[in-house]
Amino acid sequence: MVSKNIAKSLANGSWIRKMFEEGDRLRAIYGDENVYDFSLGNPDGEPPQSVLDSLQRLAVEPNVHKYMANAGFLDVRAKLADYEGKRAGIEGLTAAHVVMSVGAAGGLNAALKALLDPGDEVMVLAPFFVEYLSYIGNHGGVPVQVSTQPGTFQPDPEAIARAITPRTRAMIINNPNNPTGAVYTREILEEVARTLTRREKELGLESPIMVISDEPYAKLVYDGAVAEPMLSIFDNCMVINSFSKSLALPGERIGYIVVNPKTQEAGLLCSALAYTTRVLGYVNAPGLLQKAIAENLDAKVDVDEYRRRRDALEAVLTEAGFQYVKPEGAFYIFGKSPIPDDVAFCQAAAEKRILLVPGTGFGGPGYFRAAYCVSYETILRSREAFLELGAMYR
Ligand SMILES: Cc1ncc(COP(=O)(O)O)c(C=O)c1O
Repeated sequence: MVSKNIAKSLANGSWIRKMFEEGDRLRAIYGDENVYDFSLGNPDGEPPQSVLDSLQRLAVEPNVHKYMANAGFLDVRAKLADYEGKRAGIEGLTAAHVVMSVGAAGGLNAALKALLDPGDEVMVLAPFFVEYLSYIGNHGGVPVQVSTQPGTFQPDPEAIARAITPRTRAMIINNPNNPTGAVYTREILEEVARTLTRREKELGLESPIMVISDEPYAKLVYDGAVAEPMLSIFDNCMVINSFSKSLALPGERIGYIVVNPKTQEAGLLCSALAYTTRVLGYVNAPGLLQKAIAENLDAKVDVDEYRRRRDALEAVLTEAGFQYVKPEGAFYIFGKSPIPDDVAFCQAAAEKRILLVPGTGFGGPGYFRAAYCVSYETILRSREAFLELGAMYR
């Protein structure tokens, strides 16, 4: 009944989904308290009170629930243009450069549909958010995996240079990163920008390579780390952001795309994004949510609380003998699997009722991802189980 393509995708399933199902099975046997589920990137807290207040008040205002321009409410887009322009310190950004999206996922699909012809290549920096592969495939593109620097997970400009071909159309960057927690340095990003320009010239590319910067974790950074504003580094660039993580609103599906005014044919691209938003069936991003986030652009969840959890999980992992690169952003730790087979390792962890996702599921074999958007108490309770798990590999 379903297409061969989709049947194949369903059969493969995602590792995150598999671990989630395993979690359900374990919870039914051992009870919620005794399963340490680090598998999902689902913020566990509630949205800030100011967001809830806005939603309640705006819900009964006139003209909030109607159709609108496909790009979204003009006043909301103007506010975002102002916000992103100031953040990047760039001139000329207006409401015309902003298209509201159905979360980052909707924004990525609208962007890829607007950019890709069949067979066009899109670079993704491994390890990566695995849905990128499906999103690129949705629009006839071909994902090209490019490794990051071992030990830091920072982009590798030389590896990027080697991956560029006459078919390269775009590169997806995700900073702060899921699954590694890495926050990219300005120095390296500037080198990546120079690399793109150099390769475009060398290959005589007709269209410049578009940088798609996926930034749902931009506000979740620790220890003074800065999520660099990509519009100040890359000319041919669009930033895709969402409020799923920063305002704990993943179920409400609200985000936006902002195009650098310096992008080649920026006006045409913005029209294309409004069009693809429409014909992908989104029509427009949710109206009430657009209005609510516009009142809360400076709000965010309690970042200190995430940092506290990160520190607690780091302490547990270190005590249990696991290695990892200290994460500076998002809410994930990407640890080294003590055995080469990360899938077997995660299965062994599940035996101890610890749910982790194998790095293989993110194009990063030999690692595991632990999401620390769980309660602080869960992290403390998981200690004994992690110690037992670690002891198995000494
Ligand atoms: C890197 C990355 N991009 C995009 C998304 C999708 O986010 P949204 O809920 O805004 O669609 C996620 C969600 O986990 C993510 O981790």
